[in-house]
Amino acid sequence: MEKTYLMVKPDGVRRQLVGKLVQRFEDKGFQLIAAKMFRMTREQAEYHYEEHKDKPFFGELVEFITSGSVFGMVWQGENIVALSRAMMGKTNPLDAAPGTIRGDYALNTGNNIIHGSDSPQSAEREISNFFRPEELAAGDYPV
Ligand code: CMP
Repeated sequence: MEKTYLMVKPDGVRRQLVGKLVQRFEDKGFQLIAAKMFRMTREQAEYHYEEHKDKPFFGELVEFITSGSVFGMVWQGENIVALSRAMMGKTNPLDAAPGTIRGDYALNTGNNIIHGSDSPQSAEREISNFFRPEELAAGDYPV
């Protein structure tokens, strides 16, 4: 079953959107198999955003993501990587359609509420940065 790493960023946690966001993905039909509220270390943040390390906003990005708690989640479901990204909407909230998470809740690119893996390979890499394999409850749902 395809998995993804979804994460409510510090702005979403501060705005108390965790419950609403979890509900959207459960309503869609996806299965939550691991979740925790935690403060990311600088090392985890730099690894998580490695592909952006040469971008001018990298420092700002690491500062922001380590500025408060995040709510990290592992979800599974059919085509979950592409479908969850469609539900999140475009990175820049100016381009995100109403009805998507960023379209409904976010005001700017830096504070865009939620992260979702961009491929199954990224998902695997991101999940292993935050969760141990035995923390995933992948077999706990009816098939
Ligand atoms: P996300 O797609 O989750 O992961 C990369 C993040 O970099 C992206 O969300 C934005 O939050 C952030 N980002 C992208 N472009 C910019 C930018 N121009 N300025 C600040 N942050 C950015």
